[in-house]
Amino acid sequence: MKILIVGHKGQLGRILMATPTPHERVGIDLPEQDITHAAEAIPAILALAPDAVINPAAFTNVDAAEANPDLAYRVNAHGAGTIARACHSLGIPLIQISSNEVFDGTRAGQPYDEWDQAHALSTYARSKLAGENAARFYHDQVLIVRIAWLFAPGDANFPGKICAVADKQGALKVVDDEFGNPTYAPDLAPALFALLDRQAPPGIYHLTNAGACSRYEFACEVLRQSGRGHIPVTPIPHTAWPRPSQPPLRALLANRAAAALGIQLRPWQEAVAEWAAWEKGNGQIHGG
Ligand SMILES: NC(=O)c1ccc[n+]([C@@H]2O[C@H](COP(=O)([O-])OP(=O)(O)OC[C@H]3O[C@@H](n4cnc5c(N)ncnc54)[C@H](OP(=O)(O)O)[C@@H]3O)[C@@H](O)[C@H]2O)c1
Repeated sequence: MKILIVGHKGQLGRILMATPTPHERVGIDLPEQDITHAAEAIPAILALAPDAVINPAAFTNVDAAEANPDLAYRVNAHGAGTIARACHSLGIPLIQISSNEVFDGTRAGQPYDEWDQAHALSTYARSKLAGENAARFYHDQVLIVRIAWLFAPGDANFPGKICAVADKQGALKVVDDEFGNPTYAPDLAPALFALLDRQAPPGIYHLTNAGACSRYEFACEVLRQSGRGHIPVTPIPHTAWPRPSQPPLRALLANRAAAALGIQLRPWQEAVAEWAAWEKGNGQIHGG
């Protein structure tokens, strides 16, 4: 199978290109290909003639989206629709990557199932939810895969930023009342390929590493496993860390649909161990 990765230079895109699989991968991304320009993007995708498409491309700066709603919608909503139109012309499946932030996170006690009603709080989240709808409006072979708190080898993510601040300042304050499911890209990528291999039916899938934690717990685990367990971390409420956007406080995802196909990711602490091994400079990145 030839799989097109849209946004192949991003955090998840790079891992999708590098993960061992028998499938051929091709990629498009900025600046060569802009998915907000449908008149150019659609012919480019048709010319590549993929057998399936995975689209992690997005305007992902959640806080910056508040000041740039037009661009967030053009990329995350209309861009997703454009990719779906190309997939419809080719008659091929599309995996559209979405976010836990489509939920408002106000439900206490239990995580959100795939069939639960979405209610997005921020501009970014509304644009991602619009992207889910746009993709399914144009095409019937769409798998929406919602993920959360994505991280990968590299430092442009939460674990990387936590380590950088710890090294620079020698102490940290981290929000302890925002909860999520860390999602390790080297674990996610094989699961996405498995959905395609098993011809999973169109619909919504929640795929994160198993387990959930607060930002504070995530940070403490990263510091402990990366050899920085001695660095003091002070838990703070989200109100003490003002942001332009409003994050959902408990947008936890339950994996029911993919689990029914036998597709589950390992516990997030094991993924942190692999990330920490990479961070120490001697890591082997396999995914699991
Ligand atoms: N990161 C998280 O914690 C998280 C959580 C939940 C869901 N997600 C979703 O997971 C997916 C992957 O996230 P990520 O962290 O890998 O994102 P990322 O690193 O920001 O990668 C996104 C890629 O898309 C590209 N892109 C942006 N606008 C484009 C356009 N108009 N045309 C073509 N390509 C464009 C970006 O290029 P530039 O870098 O040049 O802009 C970048 O290469 C996204 O859909 C995101 O919404 C992420």
